[in-house]
Amino acid sequence: MRSLTFALILSALLLPFSVAQAQGPFAEPKNLQVIPDTVKGSQLRQIMRRFSAALGEQCSYCHAPSEDGEGLDFESDANDKKRVTREMIKLVRHVNQVSASLYPDNPDHKPTSFVCTTCHRGQANPFLIEEVMNNQIAEGGTAAAQAKYLELKEEYYGSHTYDFTSFTLAEYANRLLISGDLTNALEMAKFSTEQFPQEAYAHSVLGNVYVRQRNLPEAITAFEASLAINPNQDGLRRQIERAKETMEQ
Ligand code: HEC
Ligand code: HEC
Repeated sequence: MRSLTFALILSALLLPFSVAQAQGPFAEPKNLQVIPDTVKGSQLRQIMRRFSAALGEQCSYCHAPSEDGEGLDFESDANDKKRVTREMIKLVRHVNQVSASLYPDNPDHKPTSFVCTTCHRGQANPFLIEEVMNNQIAEGGTAAAQAKYLELKEEYYGSHTYDFTSFTLAEYANRLLISGDLTNALEMAKFSTEQFPQEAYAHSVLGNVYVRQRNLPEAITAFEASLAINPNQDGLRRQIERAKETMEQ
């Protein structure tokens, strides 16, 4: 089992890299506690590169500086991220074991490879954009959340680090609405229609916030904007009628 597990974790960690030459500190590792010490230097080098790429960080993120100030002391455990990473390696290994044993009666089942990037997507702390915005709202309100969103979009758009699609932003505003946080829901729903004027759902969410705020004229405007983009929304048509009836009463 151990060698199967090792083969699994290695193949998962190595995937896109070709075998490279072992060199320098990789040739004789002295302090491997989780990666088997039978690993070839060239493989260890690739694993370390994969870790760096998965987190979008340099080697120094996990490895402490040498005492003489020259480069890094790879053997040392002085940097706590190394301990955390050992736990992460065990976690990845465990999930790959689970995947490999899911269909014991189907020898053709090919387990999906599970790697650091599956979660990390180029960042050390694998936040979703929603969590980033929650944290920003808690600290500096919706203005801070919107500024952060635009800043991250500038930096990461096109990568897999954050989801900048129109639905996700509109759904974020909808979650705020569902949680009863109407003030922030309104600001984020407006932001979502500004960012994605062609996302029908963003206008619907904005309309729903207005309904909850009993601002029916604005709600109708927003619902109609949504209908103009996607006419196939009978439920929304009924909501508009209901809002108009209420206003006439
Ligand atoms: C995300 C954290 C992380 C990053 C980034 C990282 N490493 Fe490591 N590295 C580790 C961990 C954890 C170990 C020990 C693994 C074990 O105990 O089995 C290790 C072990 C090593 C070792 C073996 C040291 C020894 O003597 O035992 C070398 C060499 C090494 N890393 C080089 C590098 C290089 C070069 C880079 C940059 C390309 C790098 N690492 C990036 C976490 C990291
Ligand atoms: C199942 C998802 C998942 C996978 C797979 C995963 N991680 Fe993580 N990792 C996390 C989460 C979540 C955190 C943040 C934990 C916390 O709350 O501090 C984290 C934190 C870390 C940290 C600490 C970051 C910091 O700055 O505090 C390091 C280093 C790390 N992971 C390395 C790795 C490496 C290397 C791999 C692959 C061997 C890996 N992780 C695989 C979910 C994952």
